Amino acid sequence: MMVCLFKGTNSEEPAGKISVINAMRGTTGSLKYFTINSNFAYLLDGMTPTVKEILEKELFTTGNLVKLLSAGDEDTKLIFSTSAAIKKQYTGEKVFFRGLIELSNICSKNCYYCGIRRGNRNPERYLVTEPEVLEAARYALDNGFGSMVMQSGERFDKRYIGYVESLLRKIKAMSAGKLGITLSMGEQTEETYRRWFEAGAHRYLLRIETSNRELYYKIHPRDARHDYDFRLQSLELLRKTGYNVGSGVMIGLPFQTLEDLAGDLQFFKNYDIDMAGMGPYIEHVDTPLYKFKDQLLPKEKRLELSLKMVALLRIIMKDVNIAATTAMQTIDKNGREKALRVGANIIMPNLTPLRYREGYLLYQNKPGISEQIEDSMKNLERQIHNAGCLVGYGEWGDSKHFAKRQTQIQ
Ligand code: 5AD
Ligand code: SF4
Repeated sequence: MMVCLFKGTNSEEPAGKISVINAMRGTTGSLKYFTINSNFAYLLDGMTPTVKEILEKELFTTGNLVKLLSAGDEDTKLIFSTSAAIKKQYTGEKVFFRGLIELSNICSKNCYYCGIRRGNRNPERYLVTEPEVLEAARYALDNGFGSMVMQSGERFDKRYIGYVESLLRKIKAMSAGKLGITLSMGEQTEETYRRWFEAGAHRYLLRIETSNRELYYKIHPRDARHDYDFRLQSLELLRKTGYNVGSGVMIGLPFQTLEDLAGDLQFFKNYDIDMAGMGPYIEHVDTPLYKFKDQLLPKEKRLELSLKMVALLRIIMKDVNIAATTAMQTIDKNGREKALRVGANIIMPNLTPLRYREGYLLYQNKPGISEQIEDSMKNLERQIHNAGCLVGYGEWGDSKHFAKRQTQIQ
C-alpha cells in the first residue's frame, strides 16, 4: 500500500487526526492520501503489522483499528470473512426481530443532526395512542417477533413517563410476558429507568453518538440538556438498574476522523456494552449540520465504513447483539442484508402506524414511509435468507454478552 505522508503540514485537521473523508478518498479503495503527523507513523507500510497479522491478535490498539478501518478492498474482504466466521461461531445463524414503534416525535432536545429536533417547526408532532401500540404489539406477537422496541424523542414530563410505564405493563399482560421490550427514550432519571424496568422493559438503547467529547459538542448544543458526561452517567445508571445496555454512534459525521471511529469501538469495549445500533449519518435539510453537506463522504462510502464498523465490533466484542439499522437501508436497499453478512444479528421492522411515519424523519429519504408491514416483511425475510441467516421466531434473542455478564456478577 502506498501512502503519501504530509507531516503535519497543509492540514485543516488537528494534529494526529486522519479525517474520514481524506482517508476514504482513494479511488482504488486503499488508503491513498491523507494528512498525518508523527503519531500515526505506524501506518506506514513495512513498519506495522499487516491487516492479516492484526486480525490474528486478541487485543487491538486504536492504531490497529484505524488501520483496519482504512483497509483497501482485498483487506476488507478478509475483515468481513473474519467477522462473518466469528458471528457464526458466537451468535449463530439466527437473526432476531424487534418490532419498532416510534412512539412520539416530541423531543426536548436540539441535536444538530436530527430532523425531529425541538427547533424544527416542520414535523407535525404526534403521540401514538394506546390502542395503536397494543395493535402493533399484537401483530408482533402473532408474527413470531420475540420482541419490540419503543423509541421516541426525549421527554421527561410525568405524564409521558407514566404513559410509557402503563404501555409496558399492558404489552406484558397482553403477551403473557412473551414479548421482550427494548426502550430507546434517551436520558432519564434513575427512578424513571427503574420504573420502566419494573414495568417490563429489560433492554435500553442509548447511543453515545460519538465517543469523542469535542466532536460531541460540534454535533450538539453546548448546554445542560446536551451534556456528554451526563450521557456517560446515564449508561452507568442503565447498567446499575439491570438493563441489557446498548449504545451506538453515527458514522460519517462532519469533522469525524477514523481515529474517532476507532475510539468509538474502544469505547464500546471499555463500557462493556451488550448491544449496539450504529449507522451512517444522513443529512437532513432542516438541521444545522446540513451546511456541512458538501464536506461529507459520498453516501456509499459512509455505508462501507458503517459495515466495517459492524464487522470490527463483531471481531472485538464477539457475543454482543448488533443491529442492521434502517439508516443502512436508506443508502442501499440491501444495506441491512450486507450488515447481516458481516456481523449484525438484529433487525427492527417498523411497526409504527403508517399515518405517523412522515413525522419521524430523523434524516431524509428514510425508507418505509408508505410501505405496509406485510410487504416489507416479505422483502426482509428474503434478504435474511440471502444473507445465509435464519429468523429466531418467537425468541427474545438477548445478547449472549449480557448473559455472560450476569453469570460473572453472581
Ligand atoms: N442520520 C443518521 N442517524 C440519525 N439519528 C438521528 N439523526 C440522524 C441522522 N441525521 C440517529 C441517532 C439517534 C437515533 C435515534 O437516530 O443516532 O440516537
Ligand atoms: Fe431528540 Fe434523539 Fe433527535 Fe436528539 S437524536 S433531537 S434526542 S430524537
